[in-house]
Amino acid sequence: MEETLQTSTQPDLRKIQLQIDGADVLPTREEFYTNYPFYKYWGSQHNQQLLTPAGISIYIHIPFCIQICDYCFYMKDLIKSKDQVNEYVDYLCKEIQLVSETFGLQRREVHSIYIGGGTPSVLTEAQFKRIVDTIHKYHKFGTPEFSFEAEPGTFSKAKLQSYKDSGVNRISMGVQSFNDEVIKLSSRKHNGAQAINSIRMVTEMGGFQLNIDLLSGLAGDKMNTWEESVHTALAQGVDMLTIYKMKTYANTNFFLKGVHNNEITLPDNEEEIGFMQRALEIIDSAGYQRWSNFAFTREGCINVYAENTWRGQDLIAYGASSFGKIGNINYQNINNTALYFDKLKQDQLPVFRTYNTTSKDAIIRELLLCAARLSSYRKAEFMQKFGFDYFQLIPDTIHQLEQKGYITGNREELELTRQGVLFGDFVGKVLASAVKDVLGKDKIGFTY
Ligand SMILES: C[S@@+](CC[C@H](N)C(=O)[O-])C[C@H]1O[C@@H](n2cnc3c(N)ncnc32)[C@H](O)[C@@H]1O
Ligand code: SF4
Repeated sequence: MEETLQTSTQPDLRKIQLQIDGADVLPTREEFYTNYPFYKYWGSQHNQQLLTPAGISIYIHIPFCIQICDYCFYMKDLIKSKDQVNEYVDYLCKEIQLVSETFGLQRREVHSIYIGGGTPSVLTEAQFKRIVDTIHKYHKFGTPEFSFEAEPGTFSKAKLQSYKDSGVNRISMGVQSFNDEVIKLSSRKHNGAQAINSIRMVTEMGGFQLNIDLLSGLAGDKMNTWEESVHTALAQGVDMLTIYKMKTYANTNFFLKGVHNNEITLPDNEEEIGFMQRALEIIDSAGYQRWSNFAFTREGCINVYAENTWRGQDLIAYGASSFGKIGNINYQNINNTALYFDKLKQDQLPVFRTYNTTSKDAIIRELLLCAARLSSYRKAEFMQKFGFDYFQLIPDTIHQLEQKGYITGNREELELTRQGVLFGDFVGKVLASAVKDVLGKDKIGFTY
């Protein structure tokens, strides 16, 4: 009797409705999910992709230089002897074998490779060849974009020939400025004429895409010296001109001398914006195109390595301090050479820190490094990766950026205007912040 009374006061669980697609529906027990996505959507369109191991990019760090430039924040050391570099190359080669075997990388084709630094052009031809031979031995090497960072004071025709013979097809030359006074104020040892000479060696030999780096905001630069640098760079007919905004990191001599000790005066933010604004005018009138918000190219040139890594392709990092990514895990190698050697001596990966990229991080990375950085970005690419349209996620922010003249484009493509290029990474910050508002402000990646 007591039992019957209790049952009659309970709600009927079968009648508690829920909303699906705006309609009230009664629950059923017909749903029983064994997998997702549902099989009815599967087809043969990705069969080939399944059988092709995903490509990779490779970065190799050479942390030696003939000078320590006052603005430079990279991990580097003054080169002392050939033996010192030989020892580093020994461990680098050991790391290449260890990493390739640990992660089974031999079947994954190398799509792009970047030897950077420090100053890779301090390597002797023999040291360089040992590295390239080891890469060939432990990686699947077709005809990737193969970039090599060079510095005018350490460059020669014989070295250039050896790079070419080993498959290097892209030279990235650090020039920073063509004005001798400005170069000297940064504690660099070469002069403008040497930089031009090095550039000519590359263009005369042929077979390379040539990029040169300039720095906007160096100590001593004035509008006239800056204009002279941009004009001189373009007059050399370089394939790509990269202009970084000089950032005064706390580990640089400029920080110590300028911000801390007041010994030098650096152009202020307004002056630097003026430099870049003028550079964009000069670049446009020279017929160069925007490839990213800091790199400008002659028709058809792109930087495969940068595009691949910005889009999240796996990046295998070799050498002290280098950054890599395998699957969702980002990692950085130890940034102290002696400790890097110690780990390898014990046959251990020289990894120092890692970060697991969440889906939210991946969305933010795509907006920061692709949508707001590449001069134009196709919506279809985002759709294919994330399964929805970013316009739907943050319509008001996109509208605001359009209204205020930072981006243009139709709903198929997002394009930076000249103003958008000038403030490209700021546009990225605005997009990332809007995504954060929608998806939640909890932990997100280290990039923002
Ligand atoms: C690792 S450096 C290698 C270049 C080569 N060692 C040379 O000096 O010619 C690559 C580029 O980073 C850029 N760079 C260095 N320090 C920077 C800073 N504080 N802010 C922005 N870019 C910087 C420079 O333009 C440089 O050409
Ligand atoms: S800019 Fe190049 S040469 Fe100068 S310290 Fe940095 S890596 Fe070395």
